Amino acid sequence: MITVLKADITTLDVDAIVNAANSSLLGGGGVDGAIHRAAGPQLLEACRALGGCRCGDAKITPGFGLKARWVIHTVGPVWRGGENNEPQLLASCYRRALEIAAERALETIAFPNVSTGVYGYPQHEAAQVVFSVLQEYELRFLEIICCCFDDTNVAIYRALQHGRSG
Ligand code: APR
Repeated sequence: MITVLKADITTLDVDAIVNAANSSLLGGGGVDGAIHRAAGPQLLEACRALGGCRCGDAKITPGFGLKARWVIHTVGPVWRGGENNEPQLLASCYRRALEIAAERALETIAFPNVSTGVYGYPQHEAAQVVFSVLQEYELRFLEIICCCFDDTNVAIYRALQHGRSG
């Protein structure tokens, strides 16, 4: 089941939340900063041991102080106009995170709107890419949550969800 909601992802009691990180995995602002603040300093320690993460890839750590058992860190593409493989890289972030979650038989996973903040990916274009990937994996999870942080993203994802119900 794909669920669309507006929430602070650090409050969600799910198997895994996904972090929109940068390639260093050493924290940052936005949702990255919020997740590190809520998880506590052990998260940064665990990330240091991972040796970074390539754009389009994902790596997993425990959730430590978070309600979520796991954090799957992914590095989205910076938007450079759409001709630099951005859609493929964004799709890869979601695919890799979902593959890692499936390998561990996780049942519930929540995503922020990766790359649509600091990295400037236009929200509508991102949602089109993301929603089709989520539909590919939907039946392998109990729940996949699109955890939006603003009303615009909620409206965009709700429209995609209703559009599929014909
Ligand atoms: N819960 C859910 N979503 C959130 C939260 C939160 N607590 N805080 C921010 N967001 C949303 C933003 O509103 C945006 O829709 O997450 C989405 C992604 O925005 P960013 O956090 O800016 O991530 P991104 O655009 O992928 O840029 C990543 O920003 O914080 C740095 O270290 C990070 O360098 C990396 C870059």
